[in-house]
Amino acid sequence: MSERILIGVAWPYANGPLHLGHIAGAYLPADIFARYHRLKGNEVLMVSGSDQHGTPITLRAEQEGKSPQEVVSRYHQQFLSCWQKLGISFDLFTTTGTPNHAKVTHDIFLTLLDKGYIYKDTVPQAYCANCQRFLPDRYLEGTCPHCGFPNARADQCDECGRTLSPTELIELHCRLCSATPRFEVSEHFFLRLSAFEDRLKAWVKEQRHWRQNVRNFTLGFLAEGLKDRAITRDIEWGITVPQSGFERKRIYVWFEAVIGYLSASKEWAKLQGDDQAWQPFWQGDAKSYYFVGKDNIFFHTIVWPAMLMGYEKVDIPYDVPANEFLTIEGRRLSTSRNWAVWLPDYLERYHPDPLRYFLSINMPETADADFSWREFVRRNNDELVATYGNLVHRILTFTNRNFDGVIPAPGELDGQSRALLGKAEAALDSVDRLLYGCRFREAIRTAMSLAQEANRYLDYQAPWKMIKVDRQASAKSVYVTLSVLSALKTVLYPFLPFSSQKLHNLLGFDGKVEAGGWQFQRLSPGQKLPVPQPLFTKLDEKIADEETSRLGLVSSL
Ligand code: MF3
Ligand code: ZN
Repeated sequence: MSERILIGVAWPYANGPLHLGHIAGAYLPADIFARYHRLKGNEVLMVSGSDQHGTPITLRAEQEGKSPQEVVSRYHQQFLSCWQKLGISFDLFTTTGTPNHAKVTHDIFLTLLDKGYIYKDTVPQAYCANCQRFLPDRYLEGTCPHCGFPNARADQCDECGRTLSPTELIELHCRLCSATPRFEVSEHFFLRLSAFEDRLKAWVKEQRHWRQNVRNFTLGFLAEGLKDRAITRDIEWGITVPQSGFERKRIYVWFEAVIGYLSASKEWAKLQGDDQAWQPFWQGDAKSYYFVGKDNIFFHTIVWPAMLMGYEKVDIPYDVPANEFLTIEGRRLSTSRNWAVWLPDYLERYHPDPLRYFLSINMPETADADFSWREFVRRNNDELVATYGNLVHRILTFTNRNFDGVIPAPGELDGQSRALLGKAEAALDSVDRLLYGCRFREAIRTAMSLAQEANRYLDYQAPWKMIKVDRQASAKSVYVTLSVLSALKTVLYPFLPFSSQKLHNLLGFDGKVEAGGWQFQRLSPGQKLPVPQPLFTKLDEKIADEETSRLGLVSSL
């Protein structure tokens, strides 16, 4: 029976280019999961979009002397082009700037207000007399009271990940002019998170299928007790507050960004020409997965579920398979210090699949993982080229030269051949099980070990020697190896969609690899194969030094 899978992926702020941390943290695992489920014949809806409001955007716009809209439009276009080149297969990647999103946000806001889950209160708001303006969280900086990090933002500490409020920070100062702000009273709306504490605790305890780090982090947070949180701000860029007296204030970016999952699903439905098409993904037996980085866990396992518990009309998350961090050359990624590998730069210089491969087999799933250019080049050359690519190329060129490029009939199979075909079947099953459980790293390792088995088989059977003495025996091992390639293009498709498509066609299958489904697609003897082409290219080792030396330089991006 086919399943319905809703995949929500963290909405990137449209204030700067994407980097490998984003990709390893959320976009790649989400895409692998989506491609896997589509291949299984399940109905998938994968949505996200540019997060275009809030101070991350206005700060950037002020720095550049541009309007916020100019900044977000530019990066939104860049994101779309990156998804296309990297093969991140969103069903819809929209923005939080659409009228539809504002409408859905207002509906949730007013429903929660009506039910008493949102209330009005006054808060001290930082005001800089020097700059003559209210200072939203990101315009404030100070020392984190928990870990002592000196450059903590007023809403969150980037060092220890704790969420903060401005009054908690030590030596609070204005980021624009360094002056110490004073606090003035301002009226705001609050989300009554405290009302959901018990329900959230009971719910999270039951989520045995969650990753341990996600579940523990959330339970730890809940154990400290939930405080109500302000969900409006003294700022002009963002979604309006549908209440009189709040014309000069806006809804807090985090409150509305998570609503994007629902509004994007509704937008997608409209684009399908069926306004109700979103419902089966949000109500009933669908499963919803939210792929986000470690620093977004709180908003997806506590805030968003609480909002939905209050709203009551749609389902709460099924899973939040958040990843840990990706370090770069052993150091913590930092965009401000330009210690990052920028995705547009990567995609300009290299193919997408080697990156997808590296970040899959080395995914920061249960612990932080490191990206280094040396390892990247090594894995490309030793694993993609030498193990997988070489297997493909050896057998395809041999078939081309010795069997006129036609898949030969295998004749009777020996034990070793049957065993290898059995392993291919088994790999389809185990990779299936692993991907179903969001164990991506393990899944690609299992898939790659099938390629290693096939290489061993081929070395042992040596059809290039056999052809001189027993043409039928040679034909048999050619057929069996080609068959294993058919299993490989399927199990590796979620990770390496571009090379799987290529291999699919090189094996004589027409059309899209997706159409083959999650099964061991058998080959037809007598089928003519196209002229072989290599799947991957070797990278010069010099690249590692070249690329590493670009890190940390001040860039114009
Ligand atoms: N824009 C946020 C970030 O980059 C993520 C928002 S995820 C959302 O950290 F779902 F809440 F939108
Ligand atoms: Zn100031």
